[in-house]
Amino acid sequence: MASLAPGGRIAVVAAALLDDLTAPTQLLSAQRTEPPLLAGGWEIPGGKVDPGEEPLDALHREIHEELGVRIEVGDGIPGPLDGWWPLGERYAMLVWLARVSDGIPQPLEGHSQLRWLPEHALWSVDWLPANRPILAAIAATLWTP
Ligand code: C5P
Repeated sequence: MASLAPGGRIAVVAAALLDDLTAPTQLLSAQRTEPPLLAGGWEIPGGKVDPGEEPLDALHREIHEELGVRIEVGDGIPGPLDGWWPLGERYAMLVWLARVSDGIPQPLEGHSQLRWLPEHALWSVDWLPANRPILAAIAATLWTP
């Protein structure tokens, strides 16, 4: 079971994890291990909201399950679908900026590797197509002069 986003889509949450919320220089990318169609692609980490769960609670839970860290959440990055980002036809995702407040991210679940990307290397990984407009919006928010 999952929670619903606009248009009856399945609700997903994700964090753009930064080295610092005030003066960020790097963003964490994560390479998916499944499902086969998405495996090998890079994403910002997160996952599905459980039924009855608040999206922000889901964000803290998913990041702890997947990366083993606690986070401090900053601003949201609104998408075009009532603030949500469409992921294909079936999913929609809420995205927040965040910072690791406790621990060092490890690929514990769902990812084969993690990579901190400096601004100049933001496009050096093969982002999942649905994540690309999100990354462009994040980069514009963080790094447009
Ligand atoms: O991680 P999880 O499998 O729970 O995410 C649900 C779906 O959300 C994935 O199948 C994938 O299509 C999508 N997703 C995505 N980009 C992310 C996180 C999830 O496209 N950053």
